[in-house]
Amino acid sequence: MPVPKRKTSPMKRDQRRAHHDKITAPNVVPCPNCGDVMLPHRACPACGHYKGRQVIKGNVERARVVVFDLAGKIAVVTGGSRGIGRATCVALAEAGAYVLVNYRTNAEAAEETLRLIRDAGGQGELLGFDVADPEAVDQAIKQAYDKHGKIDILVNNAGISIDQLLLRISPKDLEMTWATNVNGALFCAKACIKTMMRKRQGRIINLSSVVAESGNPGQVVYSASKAALLGVTRTLAREYASRGITVNAIAPGFIETDMTSELTEAAHQGIIEQTPLGRIGRPEEVAAAVVFLASDEASYITGQVVRVNGGMHV
Ligand SMILES: NC(=O)c1ccc[n+]([C@@H]2O[C@H](COP(=O)([O-])OP(=O)(O)OC[C@H]3O[C@@H](n4cnc5c(N)ncnc54)[C@H](OP(=O)(O)O)[C@@H]3O)[C@@H](O)[C@H]2O)c1
Repeated sequence: MPVPKRKTSPMKRDQRRAHHDKITAPNVVPCPNCGDVMLPHRACPACGHYKGRQVIKGNVERARVVVFDLAGKIAVVTGGSRGIGRATCVALAEAGAYVLVNYRTNAEAAEETLRLIRDAGGQGELLGFDVADPEAVDQAIKQAYDKHGKIDILVNNAGISIDQLLLRISPKDLEMTWATNVNGALFCAKACIKTMMRKRQGRIINLSSVVAESGNPGQVVYSASKAALLGVTRTLAREYASRGITVNAIAPGFIETDMTSELTEAAHQGIIEQTPLGRIGRPEEVAAAVVFLASDEASYITGQVVRVNGGMHV
């Protein structure tokens, strides 16, 4: 025999509904910028305001939400004049960091990076030096430290690629690649770590490459230098963890920059075929990973390799 349904009194039903609404209703708060409702710890859907500031003032269409807040941080980006370095400078500045844009020879391109930083509402300055020259590195980092009182973030991005089969590689090409890609990163890390240790905090992010792990015919010296950077990353992570400094690497796949602009159409097509996401990457997609690793949210990540390669090497 079916059990008769118990009747709920209208008063009890209203009480239950009120309780349900209370526990399921989002805990909205008024936006301090426009007064519309927003969820705490989220951007206001009406005006883009987040954590007390609107990221790009007066341009709501281009406004980007600051997910990782780097306000007050001083960042050095080597090779910031072009490609991944430029996108990284702009992304760090958009997240609130003051960015020191390094370049070697191309002052005009570095000026353009600075203009993009300012257009995005960020701040920074140029800091030209050759990463392969240890005296120039020490002098520039000391100058930056004296002016700003600290260096929070170092992005070792400057790099060159001289592509040749082993049998055609000259000792000079080998030396130049090593001097920039490996020694350059070590000189910059050494100079910055000295300043970071005083503050017992710091972030170092080294730009390695997918070919460090996969290898690539015609890139023996380049891939060796990028694999060396992974060793540098893991060792420095262990050496300086106790001083509050994290050291990580990013290994990009093929990214649309000057470095890859000379690829033949066939090579371009071959890369796309080897990449599960079916396309070449954009510098901004690498820069986003740099911003994350530089942020407080990445505080328990050190000695790791973040692969930004469209699935090319898994
Ligand atoms: N593009 C890719 O597909 C790809 C893939 C994996 C990894 N990466 C790595 O990502 C980094 C950036 O690559 P990219 O494609 O953006 O390169 P890019 O467009 O060729 O730019 C290279 C940057 O490095 C600077 N640079 C070179 N030698 C330097 C030195 N001795 N001292 C100071 N700065 C120097 C250049 O400065 P100037 O403008 O003054 O010459 C330029 O800003 C490199 O380490 C590269 O190996 C790139």
